[in-house]
Amino acid sequence: MINITIINGPNLNLLGKREPSVYGNESFEDCLAQLKKDFPQVNFTYFQSNVEGELVNAIQENGFTQDGIILNPAAYTHTSVAIGDAIASIKTPVIEVHISNVHAREDFRKISHVSAKAVGSIVGLGLKGYALATEWFVSKSENV
Ligand code: DQA
Repeated sequence: MINITIINGPNLNLLGKREPSVYGNESFEDCLAQLKKDFPQVNFTYFQSNVEGELVNAIQENGFTQDGIILNPAAYTHTSVAIGDAIASIKTPVIEVHISNVHAREDFRKISHVSAKAVGSIVGLGLKGYALATEWFVSKSENV
């Protein structure tokens, strides 16, 4: 089994209800159920928090044992040096995912404290970004 932790930041617990024109109508619970169906070889762990320090704790706690972390730090992407430092401090590779195209929105969303520390970023492809990130970790584990 491949062990992947998905970590979502603030307000992503409201996916499906929150600004559907930007983030779509699907809840993250539905997305996760689909991921589990599509990737039976992956053992998914899911964590969401609206609290910055809890995200740092989750990155540290998952960062030495898991095969991959898929991280959407939401608004903290643009403000949190602590989350960037946490990614730099761990062994597990992190893929940054954003549902919306942050580069096509307000200027403050163009800054990421995460991108430079992540192995890569997937932005603007909706919830499909989580499946694409999973696929990358799966193909990476098949090629070792
Ligand atoms: C987001 C983009 C962020 O700018 C925003 O604050 C979010 C969600 C995304 O997934 O598109 O909450 O990370």
